[in-house]
Amino acid sequence: MTKTTKETRRNKRCRTRLAQAGRKPFEQHGFVNTPVYRGSTVLFESAAVFEARGVPYTYGTKGTPTIRALEEAWSEIAGAELTVLTPSGLSAVALALMTATKAGDHALIVDSAYQPTRTFCDTVLRRFGVEVEYYDPLIGAGIAALMRPSTSVVLLESPGSLSMEIQDTPAIASAAHSRGVCVVMDNSWATPLLFPPHEHGVDLAVEAGTKYLSGHSDMLLGLVSANAAWARRLRATFDALAICAGPEDAWLALRGLRTLELRLREQERAGLALATWLAARPEVSRVLHPALDQHPGHALWKRDFLGASGLFSVILKPCGRQAVAAFLDALEIFGLGYSWGGYQSLVIPFDCRLFRTATQWAPTGPALRFSVGLEDVEDLKDDLELGFAGLRAAR
Ligand SMILES: Cc1ncc(COP(=O)(O)O)c(C=O)c1O
Repeated sequence: MTKTTKETRRNKRCRTRLAQAGRKPFEQHGFVNTPVYRGSTVLFESAAVFEARGVPYTYGTKGTPTIRALEEAWSEIAGAELTVLTPSGLSAVALALMTATKAGDHALIVDSAYQPTRTFCDTVLRRFGVEVEYYDPLIGAGIAALMRPSTSVVLLESPGSLSMEIQDTPAIASAAHSRGVCVVMDNSWATPLLFPPHEHGVDLAVEAGTKYLSGHSDMLLGLVSANAAWARRLRATFDALAICAGPEDAWLALRGLRTLELRLREQERAGLALATWLAARPEVSRVLHPALDQHPGHALWKRDFLGASGLFSVILKPCGRQAVAAFLDALEIFGLGYSWGGYQSLVIPFDCRLFRTATQWAPTGPALRFSVGLEDVEDLKDDLELGFAGLRAAR
């Protein structure tokens, strides 16, 4: 019997909560999962009900039972007051920033943010009269010096996209809150399972559900969760924009939620095994993985995070573009593709010099980002051996 409630699940462990949250089988004729509700129009039973609007659903854009099931489950898992769903991770970032800003405001954006987040800030946010300033991801409490009376939001992403810096989130949140500034964080790398964002002072947390929540590279979804202080404003901004997610994607995400912890733990284990193996390779100069001792953010990661996901980066010893291309082309299991977090392992080359403005990215060689999937680690090592053989032959 599924008889748990949000209250009785509070003292249960993570896996149990993931298996139970957001499900109401006896409102679905006993079926275990909430089905896909497709719909725009919602009928009201009578003129009195229409007048009172005291019903849970009124219009497709404002939610369906499938959407609500995921919103409620995510709020429970993330320790949030409210969650809303958007059609992609990037639209979730945009919604969070639009919730926290207005014309004339000043926004502090971490220099290591996901590059399309920068594009949103540099184009739409600026066009709507928000002054955008990038800051060093390692600034910590020093962020206070950048805050102005007009600062309304600070955006964090930890670890940073591609370059993997760990931010001192509690220090930044404390500086922000003492000035009434909203703390927004892109928490897609860790998910709330490995970094409960609202416990660390984040007001609006963004998750690209496309990544680990999906886990299967077959959907796009964004989630924004809010603490009690920001829930009303988030809901109002969401309702005004109606950038709502599709019901099939919410349903797939609910399916992904049930195995999220198992997949993350496995991807953490495999990611660490590969990161350690790569660090010992003669072709590798540095591995950027916060769970490794040599990572500059390791102490902060250990203090604040409950684990690592399977996404990390590597700096190769100096070699030419052709050698990097030969490495990538020789791989048979690792795919060359951007959207990480799925069961298939991926790799991409990257160069943060192309977009950084507040800090310098000066690696000693070409950089690669790996997303470790669910294949056998020994086969993944064999695959990387093929890549390195290709690299050496082309050098
Ligand atoms: C850190 C981060 N945030 C947000 C996104 C955007 O997610 P989506 O692809 O769903 O727009 C990505 C995508 O790669 C990402 O890496």
